[in-house]
Amino acid sequence: MNLILLGPPGAGKGTQAKMLIKKFGIPQISTGDILRSAVKEQSPMGKKAKDFMDAGALVPDDVVVGIVEERISDSDCSGGYILDGFPRTVAQADSLSKTLRRNGSGIDHVLALSVNQEELLARITGRRTCKNCGAGYHLLYDPPKQSGICSECGGELYQRDDDREETMRRRLEVYEEQTSPLISYYGERALLRTIDGMGEMDQIHSALIEIIESSQG
Ligand code: AP5
Repeated sequence: MNLILLGPPGAGKGTQAKMLIKKFGIPQISTGDILRSAVKEQSPMGKKAKDFMDAGALVPDDVVVGIVEERISDSDCSGGYILDGFPRTVAQADSLSKTLRRNGSGIDHVLALSVNQEELLARITGRRTCKNCGAGYHLLYDPPKQSGICSECGGELYQRDDDREETMRRRLEVYEEQTSPLISYYGERALLRTIDGMGEMDQIHSALIEIIESSQG
């Protein structure tokens, strides 16, 4: 089963992807996480991506398409995967669809999380992530047991650079301009289901599972 999680920054894609991988035993492929690791390691790809990410802009299509093509060919993706944060442009979606067709594969569901702007801002500004294991928290909605410390591994929590106010606003604009056209793109292909992303994390998780399982017959 191949899934795409679509939605603006802060909609809960990463949070829901982590819950779905536990349920279905398939990997999460987050282009944002892969790019952040590359920036941290100062790899050639990371050096190329850094300025775009710092500005809240999208990294060029050829870079991210390459990342995803390589990752989905790994053996742990043979039973399916969850794409989190990819595709982000129509060109990326077209590229993905061509690659999958070539491999005799396809996308089963595109699950779009809908969250209003005020809530997106609140979620992004309160987000904290573990430096060590990548676990995600929110200062108000999902706080760690001990302030600043990951409840899973004891690692230090940090705020992403691109979660600062100005960059965050730019990311939301970029979503509207370049990514939101994918709603109609996948709607026209009868793959899209829109989920109200405003509720509790568990409720949203249940709604996603219901959609996935009901269409599996
Ligand atoms: P990326 O890392 O993908 O960031 P994003 O899409 O902006 O998404 P976020 O990670 O901000 O949000 P999310 O929807 O995952 O929310 P989360 O679950 O964390 O991309 C970063 C950058 O990399 C891009 O700007 C771009 O430069 C580059 N990039 C990545 N992919 C690219 C691509 N394909 N093409 C080009 N460039 C690319 O939740 C947010 C917070 O809310 C958390 O604190 C969480 O605990 C909390 N929360 C979640 N759900 C709920 C809930 N139901 N109720 C209350 N709180 C909640």
